[in-house]
Amino acid sequence: MSVKEIYPVKGLRGEVTIPGDKSISHRSIMLGAISLGTTEITHFLKGADCLSTIDCFRKMGIEIEETPQSILVHGKGLHGLSAPADILNVGNSGTTTRLMSGILAGQNFASVMSGDDSLNSRPMGRIMTPLNLMGANVTSIVGNNCAPLRITPGKIHAISYTSPVASAQVKSAVLLAGLYGDGTTSVTEPALSRNHTELMLQSFGAEVASTMHPDGSATASVEPCEQLYGQKICVPGDISSAAYFIAAGLLVPDSELLVKNVGTNLTRAGFLEVCKGMGADITLLNQTYEGGEGRADVLVRTSHLKGTTIEGNLIPTLIDEIPILAVMASQAEGPTIIKDAAELKVKETNRIDTVTEGLRAMGATITPTEDGMIIPGSSPQSGGQPLKGAKINSYLDHRIAMSFAVAGLIADGTTQILDSQCVDVSYPDFFQSLENCMEEQRMCLGTF
Ligand code: S3P
Repeated sequence: MSVKEIYPVKGLRGEVTIPGDKSISHRSIMLGAISLGTTEITHFLKGADCLSTIDCFRKMGIEIEETPQSILVHGKGLHGLSAPADILNVGNSGTTTRLMSGILAGQNFASVMSGDDSLNSRPMGRIMTPLNLMGANVTSIVGNNCAPLRITPGKIHAISYTSPVASAQVKSAVLLAGLYGDGTTSVTEPALSRNHTELMLQSFGAEVASTMHPDGSATASVEPCEQLYGQKICVPGDISSAAYFIAAGLLVPDSELLVKNVGTNLTRAGFLEVCKGMGADITLLNQTYEGGEGRADVLVRTSHLKGTTIEGNLIPTLIDEIPILAVMASQAEGPTIIKDAAELKVKETNRIDTVTEGLRAMGATITPTEDGMIIPGSSPQSGGQPLKGAKINSYLDHRIAMSFAVAGLIADGTTQILDSQCVDVSYPDFFQSLENCMEEQRMCLGTF
């Protein structure tokens, strides 16, 4: 087990270039594989989850080359995948499992997907239900609506599906299966989740439409298509990874950080909105757009934060950032209430529980609720709840490991992050990048 020790610091300085967006990296491999021609991907995230996606498509006969600058996916078209000889190992990756289910549903061969213990305990009924309504045959091998999943050939029909959850993974699974359908397939979700699939499908040549409804719900639809065509994709930096550096720049006294190449797609940028509402000194510089995806550099300075309420349609736009927002809230003046976020329970860990355990271990007060958490405020004088160094069990959840590493920077004493290697899932260089921003480099890695 790797244990990372974190000491309190002052004055984070310099620039951090954020690695590629995990969601976009996955989708670029998947769409590249089922397109005709070569898809060239730059700034691809070589994190464990995206490498699982590459591995699965290689097992289905897709040649994927890794060069120092790019990934080249030699696509074989919508019907060009071949039957894998083995179980498809999806590792820790929910995105691989759920999105690939949509693609596998449209193939004329059988396949089985299985992952690690965390992945195999996450709910898959949410994609099995709509895919099976479409005529697919997706079954949970042990009958608990979790992976391992077996997918056998079925004739795919178009449906209009209303999803009970705002989930880009559910929406994407249905839209990807819809490529193989017999008419317009649409998914309505209670609030708009990240729309990378819709944007990328469009740039690969699919006919996609998106509608926002007055009540905040959203519908995305896709037409069946003959073929998609390989594209060049430059992946923006992952705002979910940038969030740790933005939070560190805000919380660590006397800091000024330039967090470079941050994806700013509005369906992902709720974190920036909440930061501004909390009084954060952040400025977006060098804003550009490519393939429908925005990006910017974010200049961050130490700030006095105020508590806030995070709820409703904002939740899907920052769902993965809630653990680090909870750490920020512990340092804010006034209470923070997070609600409508029951989805936190079905991430890599139950993040209502793991955030509560971590903050309590560091001496902070937090009340978990059914759909979120309440973090009481401090008085203007006390400057946040004092955190003390603690042993933090990451439970192999990358976002818990990184959130509490940031908490460790402002805690009194040493913080130990257990199983810190799990950051490899989305940010393999996280600790090195953090160390690079420190004037005094005092972190160390121990093996216990
Ligand atoms: C993702 C969607 C989100 C997010 C996950 C990545 C995606 O999950 O939490 O890390 O790439 O589509 P849900 O769509 O299930 O909320």
